[in-house]
Amino acid sequence: MNKSVRSTIIAGNWKMNMTPSAAKAAVAETAALVAGKTGCEVVLCVPFVDIAAAVEAAKGTNVKIGAQNVHFEAKGAFTGEIAADMLLECGVEYVIIGHSERRQYFGETDETVNKRTKAALAAGLKVILCLGEVLGERQSGITEEIVSMQTKLDLAGISAEDMKNVIIAYEPVWAIGTGLTATPEQAEEVCAIIRGVIAKLYDEKVAQATTIQYGGSMNDGNAAELLAKENVDGGLIGGASLVPAKFAKIVDAAQA
Ligand code: PGA
Repeated sequence: MNKSVRSTIIAGNWKMNMTPSAAKAAVAETAALVAGKTGCEVVLCVPFVDIAAAVEAAKGTNVKIGAQNVHFEAKGAFTGEIAADMLLECGVEYVIIGHSERRQYFGETDETVNKRTKAALAAGLKVILCLGEVLGERQSGITEEIVSMQTKLDLAGISAEDMKNVIIAYEPVWAIGTGLTATPEQAEEVCAIIRGVIAKLYDEKVAQATTIQYGGSMNDGNAAELLAKENVDGGLIGGASLVPAKFAKIVDAAQA
């Protein structure tokens, strides 16, 4: 078994950037640059208010649109939150869940990540589930324990069938937005550890079929060597995804 049994996915995480008009232009520009690049899936995860403009601009192209969070309840008194069926009806296919910025600044825990993931999958969204160690954990030599624990807790109660719609994004927190990228060897090592945990939770077939991305200062200069690694099946890209020309070069790097 090897990479050919799973999809390579290059996803942009725009975070809190771009107004709807800027989003429309950036999606259109990105779509033009990645047209015909069939070697990977291309996703842009945009702020909620940009979804309508982004979906419209992505129509008829090979760019898919994602959101950056979703609530675990279907509806009700949850001021400021967005439910999975709302996203689906707007044309969203993917949703990022458990990004480290949500864990760090908005009280997201493995328990809420798990609940959001279940709700998103039940509604029919594909989930980009983020996990990764902070710097102190890496320095203490407990990266394997941390990512294994997150993988187990975040995927608790999720069926093998549902795993077809789960993408894991391994994002070492110390590499996000810092310009410090994990080395290809570090990314490969941890993505392989996560795949091993999935094999134990499910089986080898599910593990081999699961797309595991790397994220954290991936850019047009370092993408090729990261993506060349056996267990790195794509990228979740923040800063560089805001510049269509840079993002398109990462998509190019994934065509090999
Ligand atoms: P970065 O962000 O590429 O700007 O480091 C990655 C992410 O947070 O998903």
